[in-house]
Amino acid sequence: MAEKKAIALQVNGTQYTAEVEPRLLLVHLLRDVLGLTGTHIGCDTSQCGVCTVLMDGRAVKSCSVLAVQADGAEITTVEGLAQNGHLHPVQEAFWEKHGLQCGFCTPGAMMVAIGILQENPHPSEEEIRQGLNGIICRCTGYENIVRAVQHAAERMPG
Ligand code: FES
Ligand code: FES
Repeated sequence: MAEKKAIALQVNGTQYTAEVEPRLLLVHLLRDVLGLTGTHIGCDTSQCGVCTVLMDGRAVKSCSVLAVQADGAEITTVEGLAQNGHLHPVQEAFWEKHGLQCGFCTPGAMMVAIGILQENPHPSEEEIRQGLNGIICRCTGYENIVRAVQHAAERMPG
């Protein structure tokens, strides 16, 4: 067994330390070690995007990042979006525009949406569709996901 490494990272504003094997993926650290199961796993080929989280403000597929690479990083998962009992504007937009069906891709889709809006607060429909390339919705609910991102763009301060 490989020697464990000590890492420290902030997740949803809380500081954590852990001893992890170098091969441990960030998604497994979040789900299995920290118990944050809102981040889903939908493939083993880094294609579906449902594991997306924000790492230092950038949307990343947490199944493509080693936990040791997140040492010192600030991570935001879907559990960290609502603040003081208020949904994040992207969560509200997904709710209002019915941007989900079974909900399995929804945590990742919302993190991808936040990544899109952080890079470009006023994206065109085409830019939104391009940004959503990284997420696979098996329910094929893409139209409403696009509408939800458009709605969130209108509500979020640039
Ligand atoms: S679980 Fe990460 S891309 Fe599918
Ligand atoms: S809502 Fe079911 S996978 Fe996207």
